[in-house]
Amino acid sequence: MKLLFEKSVPGRRGVKLPDLDVPRVEPNEAWGAELVRSEPPDLPELSEVETVRHFTELSRRNYGVDNGFYPLGSCTMKYNPKINEEAVSQYGFAGLHPLLDDELAQGCLEVIHKLEKWLCEIAGMKRATLQPAAGAHGELTGNMLIKAYHRAKGNLHKKKMLIPDSAHGTNPASAALCGFEVVELPSDERGNVDMARFREALGEDVAGIMLTNPSTLGLFEENILEIAERLHEVDALLYYDGANLNAVMGYCRPGDMGFDVMHFNLHKTFSTPHGGGGPGSGPVAVNEKLEPFLPVPVVEEDGGRYRLDYDRPQSIGRIMPFHGNFGVMLKAFVYIFMLGGEGLKRVSEDAVLNANYLMARLKERYRVAYDRVCMHEFVVSNTDKAEKGAPTLAIAKRLLDYGIHPPTVYFPLIVKEALMIEPTETETKETLDRFVEVMFRIADEIENSPELLQEAPVNTPVRKLDEVRASRRPVFRYRKG
Ligand SMILES: Cc1ncc(COP(=O)(O)O)c(C=O)c1O
Repeated sequence: MKLLFEKSVPGRRGVKLPDLDVPRVEPNEAWGAELVRSEPPDLPELSEVETVRHFTELSRRNYGVDNGFYPLGSCTMKYNPKINEEAVSQYGFAGLHPLLDDELAQGCLEVIHKLEKWLCEIAGMKRATLQPAAGAHGELTGNMLIKAYHRAKGNLHKKKMLIPDSAHGTNPASAALCGFEVVELPSDERGNVDMARFREALGEDVAGIMLTNPSTLGLFEENILEIAERLHEVDALLYYDGANLNAVMGYCRPGDMGFDVMHFNLHKTFSTPHGGGGPGSGPVAVNEKLEPFLPVPVVEEDGGRYRLDYDRPQSIGRIMPFHGNFGVMLKAFVYIFMLGGEGLKRVSEDAVLNANYLMARLKERYRVAYDRVCMHEFVVSNTDKAEKGAPTLAIAKRLLDYGIHPPTVYFPLIVKEALMIEPTETETKETLDRFVEVMFRIADEIENSPELLQEAPVNTPVRKLDEVRASRRPVFRYRKG
């Protein structure tokens, strides 16, 4: 048979392949007749239009940042500009093979190189790798760099990693995966690291600390300069979890606070989506102490040309195939390029302003965990409401009935009945006021008709689930029978 597209562009669909002189193996011979189906599988049969309608209907039932308010704390960014999608679909970027020679991928290498420079400028660091695929992967990379630093100096006794109890769970997990012994530091009544316990924990065996600043409580660590000084006195290094960088960009830099290494969550600070767990990007930036250990390759510029440099003898090696999630980097590049330095500063201002406005208004009916100026997010503690039969989970589910995605629940772990709210900078005052109105209405319901919260959600495509049964006796079949 003659192929319809036989004369189309070489390398594209439709080119006739030569017949191969390879013997064909019948399935029965390859894995035995007993494993070959005797009947076709009972799969649902649908026409193309039915399939399109099915998935369109499912997408309408879904909820995302393009549908409404999404005040999820310490999570993905809630702004995904459409121009980002346009940039990543350019054939010059999307169509390139990751194994192309440096000379044929100059545009991509330039993006990687410039983004590295911009991130370093924002963070006050010297160099960065863009390879890590998420924040947690960045944490692991950072821990590996800290380990390589101490090893190179022969300091094998440096085994402890200090981590505050408010930290995200990935912090201790990354440190432990890297072989460090995790020492948990309690928080004091203002939400800062408890300095007395910090001083007690500090010794020659400490390799470093992992700190999130602002913390996951939405609070700026007030003793950061002293913490940095004390740690550096024993040659321990400071790791900055950059998940909350969107609160301080343009105002202060992790490098100036004394941090030696950090990760960025491009999907939290630089407008790249992270739905469903990926793909993300967690670049890691370092100061001069850790630069020699960065993963290979790094992108170097020479007279306007870009090349990959593998010649780094102290490198911890490659930590991701190819160059990392390039499409995600490109989106962050476009975002930073559009906003510039002043724009990024304004992002932090608006994120902090929105969070403080919301906190000040909600305080009328809800208890905040730490009553001090917050950064880009804050935490409510619903112990009083839980006593009246409306725990945080019930409030979260009732919010769904009002068409609002709930904030993060039960995190940070050190706050009882936590509801962690991050409005983000892109939301209008009207949206925030509507959220407050809904939260006040729910507070009224808790007082006057608590049964509404016990049944919630009632307006969603899937109503209240029997969660105990779902986890004990899950049904995985597509169809009964
Ligand atoms: C404070 C903090 N650190 C680290 C992470 C891990 O980031 P990622 O989800 O990109 O792995 C998160 C994620 O929610 C976080 O909130």
